[in-house]
Amino acid sequence: MRERTINLSGRDIPRRWYNLAADLPAPAPPLGPDGAPITPDMLAPVFPMNLIEQEASRERWIDIPEEVLRILLRWRPTPLRRACYLEERLGTPARIYYKDESVSPPGSHKPNTAVAQAWYNRQFGIRRLATETGAGQWGSALAFACSLLGLECKVYMVRISFDQKPLRKTMMRIWGARCVASPSAETETGRRILAETPDIPGSLGIAISEAIEEAVGDASGGTRYSLGSVLNHVLLHQTVIGLEAREQLALAGERRPDVIIACAGGGSNFAGLSFPFVRDRMDGADIEIIPVEPTACPTMTRGPFAYDYGDTACMTPLLAMHTLGHGFMPPPIHAGGLRYHGLAPLVSQTIVEGLATPRAYHQTQCYESAMLWAATEGTICAPETSHAIAAVIEEARKAKEEGREKVILFNYSGHGLMDLAGYDKYLSGELADYPLPEEALRRSIEVIRHLPRPGRGGPAGR
Ligand SMILES: Cc1ncc(COP(=O)(O)O)c(C=O)c1O
Repeated sequence: MRERTINLSGRDIPRRWYNLAADLPAPAPPLGPDGAPITPDMLAPVFPMNLIEQEASRERWIDIPEEVLRILLRWRPTPLRRACYLEERLGTPARIYYKDESVSPPGSHKPNTAVAQAWYNRQFGIRRLATETGAGQWGSALAFACSLLGLECKVYMVRISFDQKPLRKTMMRIWGARCVASPSAETETGRRILAETPDIPGSLGIAISEAIEEAVGDASGGTRYSLGSVLNHVLLHQTVIGLEAREQLALAGERRPDVIIACAGGGSNFAGLSFPFVRDRMDGADIEIIPVEPTACPTMTRGPFAYDYGDTACMTPLLAMHTLGHGFMPPPIHAGGLRYHGLAPLVSQTIVEGLATPRAYHQTQCYESAMLWAATEGTICAPETSHAIAAVIEEARKAKEEGREKVILFNYSGHGLMDLAGYDKYLSGELADYPLPEEALRRSIEVIRHLPRPGRGGPAGR
């Protein structure tokens, strides 16, 4: 019998987060409405100052607070598993390992940062958090974290996912959060968009605008906004995944992975697994690092690297990132967590620097891959995770053609037990692919033409 699961004990949980910003060239900074780099006080109505400091930090290692560690220990370290049955079915010489983040109570990688963010907010005296959610994984992770740390939580859930995944809402309610469909009648932004387009499916960009509006509009000052991806501090909190994986691969007798794969919505899932290895690659290690996205929302593979807003109503600072334009309305694919117009500036920077090479897959190929996974490994993955599995299968087949014993490592970012409606549609032959037409892309990025363009270390002009 081959060892299928490599566990670390609680004593081996990482005690520090790794900050890739310390090792990359200085990025183009976030810009305020006047086109000048933002200052910490400009973000103060939105985030607590301790997280704003973490956002700007260029320290390589940041200690994880003891109480955060104690909560993470409820499900961490997560197992590293070997996908022996998939390997066998594909007849590949590749060895496929995956970090199983689906074992967290809400079922994905998201609580790694939800717990940290709720903790830092509570330390700063905040009583209530407002947030957005696409697939519902982030909303339920923040609801879970807030319930453990005694904070109130309000979640704006993208309308299409709200309808497709009603039981995610129930999970959030179980953990004490209030969840409304976005756009909603509860904010100016929501009311304006509903008046223009009453049957709009919603987007992460709109839901972010609503949650920020709610946080900034609380006159008591007791509410802040919490984001499930994109920002530096969110990516930082996810690096426990890659740091654990490195230890576990060593225990499995592997020197290092040859290929690292993870799906990317806002980018924190990909960053969490890959960033500790990006550092190895910068030191000369031969590792191929692949973030994966849907062809319906091809931010990394077709979106320009540009300054753009993180939300639809232009309330966030301008971020230097790959983007499809802040007004982009993604088609109603089932991977709700991958329907975002932008991408974390740090992940965008790894792509620009040639340290990561993105790929895009059609929705039906992803479901086909998820079905092969369920038939071999047995578990039912989230639609987002199926994008990574599609790339893993392609890489494993390539290894077979080349007769190469590659080590493939990927992030099993979540289970799909709340996402069965998408599988149902796939099985009934009702799922369509939505490759983004060139003309739609051109129109969508038109809105960023007048914005400054990023150069190394600062804006390069308009
Ligand atoms: C299961 C799952 N995997 C991956 C992602 C993408 O995460 P990120 O925004 O961190 O890239 C999501 C987002 O909701 C998700 O729910």
